[in-house]
Amino acid sequence: MSHPDHETQSNTSANPHFEDILARGLASPGRRMILRGGVGMAGLALLPGCASLATAPASVQALGFPSLEKSLLDDVVLPPGYRYTVLHATGDALDPQMPAYSNTGAETDDWSKRIGDHHDALDIFFIDARGRYTETDTGRAVLVVNHESSADAHFMHPAGQTSNGVSGKKFTQFGDWDLGVRPELEVLKEINHHGVSVVEIERGPQGWRMKAGSALNHRVTAQTPARIDGPRAHLSDIRSQMVTRWDPTGARARGTLNNCGHGKTPWGTYLACEENWAFYFQMTPGGEAVPAREAVARRRYGLPVAAPAAGQTRGNSQGWHTVSATDDRFARWNLAPVGTQADRDFRNEAQTFGYNVEMDPLNPSATPVKRVAMGRMAHESAMCSLPKAGQPLAFYMGCDARNEYIYKFVSTAVWDPKDIGGGIAAGDKYLNEGTLYAAKFDADGRGQWIALDIKNPQIANYAAFKFANQGEIYVHTRLAADAVGATKMDRPEWAAVNPKNGEVYITLTNNSAANRTPGRVDAANPRAYMDVDGKRGAGNPNGHIIRLRESGDQATAASFRWDIFLFGAEEDAGDANLSGLTARNSFSSPDGLWFSPTTGICWIQTDDGAMTDETHCMMLAALPGQVGDGGKVTVKNRMVVNGVEQTGTQETFIGATLGEAHLRRFLIGPKGSEITGVTESPGGRALFVNIQHPGEDSKSVTAVDSQWPGNKGYGRPGRPRSATIVITRTDGGVIGA
Ligand code: FEO
Ligand code: CA
Ligand code: CA
Repeated sequence: MSHPDHETQSNTSANPHFEDILARGLASPGRRMILRGGVGMAGLALLPGCASLATAPASVQALGFPSLEKSLLDDVVLPPGYRYTVLHATGDALDPQMPAYSNTGAETDDWSKRIGDHHDALDIFFIDARGRYTETDTGRAVLVVNHESSADAHFMHPAGQTSNGVSGKKFTQFGDWDLGVRPELEVLKEINHHGVSVVEIERGPQGWRMKAGSALNHRVTAQTPARIDGPRAHLSDIRSQMVTRWDPTGARARGTLNNCGHGKTPWGTYLACEENWAFYFQMTPGGEAVPAREAVARRRYGLPVAAPAAGQTRGNSQGWHTVSATDDRFARWNLAPVGTQADRDFRNEAQTFGYNVEMDPLNPSATPVKRVAMGRMAHESAMCSLPKAGQPLAFYMGCDARNEYIYKFVSTAVWDPKDIGGGIAAGDKYLNEGTLYAAKFDADGRGQWIALDIKNPQIANYAAFKFANQGEIYVHTRLAADAVGATKMDRPEWAAVNPKNGEVYITLTNNSAANRTPGRVDAANPRAYMDVDGKRGAGNPNGHIIRLRESGDQATAASFRWDIFLFGAEEDAGDANLSGLTARNSFSSPDGLWFSPTTGICWIQTDDGAMTDETHCMMLAALPGQVGDGGKVTVKNRMVVNGVEQTGTQETFIGATLGEAHLRRFLIGPKGSEITGVTESPGGRALFVNIQHPGEDSKSVTAVDSQWPGNKGYGRPGRPRSATIVITRTDGGVIGA
């Protein structure tokens, strides 16, 4: 998501950013191969003994389309020979008996049987003749789509969101929520447009289409009941932190929020990751004070610790709590403690969010499960390692906020392919028991996974927060990662695993000038510079993509090697354009990321605000090499900080420069949109992609910046809508090849 108000920062730990990592020294014998690379781009060379780009994925040796020029059109732009159709868009009815979506906000239903808003991650689950999960393309599948729905809910109401009795308030003014009671119908529509959509799709003569009325079509929303589960030995300590008036046992919670990236498990279930959930909670005046220890925990996640003073506006909350103090559907968004008993209020409600939520797409009656062992954070995605029979599985996860961390969860259970199709029961086997790690990137191109275990003295003796038990580590994960000195990153977004070699790629979308200056960089987050035309300030405005290879290619490894696959930049960004980007493949703020198992193409999607004056957000295709195929580089940083020029250098490791032959723009979205979510049908002849929040910066519901997809014939014209599209080649060929 791109709204600047949600690019939070609540990491005030003293974890290293910069010189102290560098000071530990660069050289270690195992890294000589890499270190032999020259200094600066001129000295960057492929090194003897290291693999080169000649080891491109087996299926595709060259990209089979011309790279797109920049676009400011209000449409989805594709290379010649490609076309797209809209599969579904915000507001479409799951029930064919319902009237077509008005696109004027006139609906009076509660949105629980409609496609949600802000399409984000997606995945596809094929169905065999007996209705079971299969990995074979049967022409019949369910498509699962996350609805990040982070912010601007105005297009589903007649005149925008109502605050303090005034309709049409924009999201950026939502601090006024505390001053008035929001209309119940508006709030119900907003609660229900969050979550996940599951719809059946079929391939017919006209290509893939949604099957309205399928018994498989269903929604998981911000109030769908879910089970809380985690490691058996710590489950009571976990559930005691989830006690609410709705479930005094803490065994259940309601709903999922801000589902951004995702994971698809090897056994065929879906993980919806909860990202910016902290912004939905508020405190009303008159409750008890939040105890000091709990206040530390809340602040670390950006949650309120006191009611706003009279007249004070706040960044938190959508005002859902204002509808009713007694109806739990609304009262649950108020974190104020009332009296001493947690089972009389919703002080713990925010502790039921921030997880990976497992669902079984082919089984609408299966209760979703919050997998607490995978930690609580602004979960961006959860990407599984290449499954190997008889070995544990690793899930790679980013916490998307400024200066947050990269994590992995390693299952205790070893992979058994017989569990394919095992649904939630298989999830119980792999996702409850395991070890949670945070990543530390060292200056020598190595890194360490540090277990978040209460037996670690750094955690047991952590002064800023005294953990009572291991169960608290799963709920206050950011604090545990602070304690072990994890590396603060430039907003970790999606992870992707290269099917060819198991390497893990993670997008780091950007960071601000408050965090990155020439004196506050490190090897893994090495840039501090000013946007070339000043549109998006300074820091690391264009982001980068880091990749790592586990030691011994083991999911259980405690260490890894890393380098930076690509640096985002405008082509005229000078020293900041370390990857040698041109006008035809420059990009900014990488976010979505996925490898095609068919072609080996690494698909990169952007959620940008720094170069959107020149081109809308995009999707690029890259042919990856591997960690170590480039060399060492010295980054030259320059920024003006408070009117004073600062300069500095930072050494890091960069992948081989790709060039236009290996990195091309494939898709550019409509105005104001972010491109996110990508998968394909097996064989790679249909690519499914989400277009999120076109017209995001519209001034009102009538003064819209974008009219896509209505302007291209999908649904009623007028307001912009998020949508899933299917891309095919007019000659029926493999996408990208
Ligand atoms: Fe939802 Fe971090 O993008
Ligand atoms: Ca994202
Ligand atoms: Ca710019």
